[in-house]
Amino acid sequence: MLVPFDPGPRDPRTDTLLGEFPSAEFDDRFFRCCELVDRYSLDHALDLARALRLEPALTGGATVAEVADRLAVPAAFEPALAWLLERLAAGGELEVEAVDPPRFRSRGPLRAGETAELRALGEALDPGIARTLDLFDAAAAAWPAVASGRSTGEQELFSMGRIGLWIAYFHNANRAYAISNRMAAVAAANRLRPGGGLRILEIGAGAGSAAEALLDELARRGRLADLELYLATEPSPFFRRRAERDLKARFAGAPLRFAGADVDLPLDEQGIGDGFDLVLGVNVLHVARDLVGAVSRLRSVLAPGGWLVAGECLRLFSGQPVPAELVFQLFKSFHEVETDPRLRPLHGFLEPRHWREILAAAGFDEVAVLPDLDRIREHYPRFFAGVAVGRAPRAPEPATPGSHR
Ligand SMILES: C[S@@+](CC[C@H](N)C(=O)[O-])C[C@H]1O[C@@H](n2cnc3c(N)ncnc32)[C@H](O)[C@@H]1O
Repeated sequence: MLVPFDPGPRDPRTDTLLGEFPSAEFDDRFFRCCELVDRYSLDHALDLARALRLEPALTGGATVAEVADRLAVPAAFEPALAWLLERLAAGGELEVEAVDPPRFRSRGPLRAGETAELRALGEALDPGIARTLDLFDAAAAAWPAVASGRSTGEQELFSMGRIGLWIAYFHNANRAYAISNRMAAVAAANRLRPGGGLRILEIGAGAGSAAEALLDELARRGRLADLELYLATEPSPFFRRRAERDLKARFAGAPLRFAGADVDLPLDEQGIGDGFDLVLGVNVLHVARDLVGAVSRLRSVLAPGGWLVAGECLRLFSGQPVPAELVFQLFKSFHEVETDPRLRPLHGFLEPRHWREILAAAGFDEVAVLPDLDRIREHYPRFFAGVAVGRAPRAPEPATPGSHR
């Protein structure tokens, strides 16, 4: 390889900051996989720069808006273009002048990406990594059509022929993704009250990988019999049926129920009920249009003292590009959210501090983002997963007319 893949050793100081999460989950192999996925996104970004003819558009230095103008991309593509420029700058491939708005400029001719070589290394590290790399390849192949306005990310990546890619990606055999499920499962199991009659609601359950992780964790702790209800909700009938088929086969006898639910809409009108001990969502809440409203609605279906546990992909610094955005920046749902300068300044993945603010604004107590990413980022700046937790107030609140429910 022209630029060897050499992430160096994992910083062991992160191990002491993982809190309730077992450090065995974050071993050297996992660290190398995460770094490889990060580098893979950079090398795709380099090839996309060439495909989109980015270099001539950067002549003399240019802002995102100027580059967008010179390339004549549709307005809806500008956030994706911004990610591309930030990704290249974060990888040291472009210079960025920290003015407002930032100006990007070439350091010299951009090198060619080395994705084939990286894939070979990645698959030798962990064959499961192919599930992430395949989705990245499909997304990268879709960029030129979306940049030209000939197509949309949804048309390119949500057709029936692409479903297999998504099922493979949102899967517990895909360690780079599954870490979000695993952390959410541990955080959720640690917060469930003792005793039986437990009622759990999951939102955006997809094809069921987060449910599988939690049910596995409960089985490990001998707590499956404490469940009265596990209501897995998912708006896409295709994913929901898939989750229902697989989870009922794996956890026969568990009180599993399946329904459609949209976090952007009132939950009672969707027949969801209330009195839940836990609401779980993994990588779903960041697409809620009005995040404080959605989180408030979830609080209102919790029993007093019940917990919201949201596993989320996170950025640790403002404006930090996240590798998975190579895929998600192509989607309208990723961008079309309400922003707020304090609570949610940008679309897409949030920073830990924004989750804390949002959960507090939605009336949660004991708000935290786990593990301690504010300290972890000092030793490892690309720890892109975490869990936001908050507890519903213990005493029932008096009903207020016009509340978010
Ligand atoms: C990233 S996937 C995560 C799937 C699942 N949690 C897992 O980890 O396997 C996000 C899921 O959220 C669902 N979703 C998108 N918008 C939603 C909304 N407004 N309300 C509820 N779910 C939504 C999608 O259909 C998708 O299945």
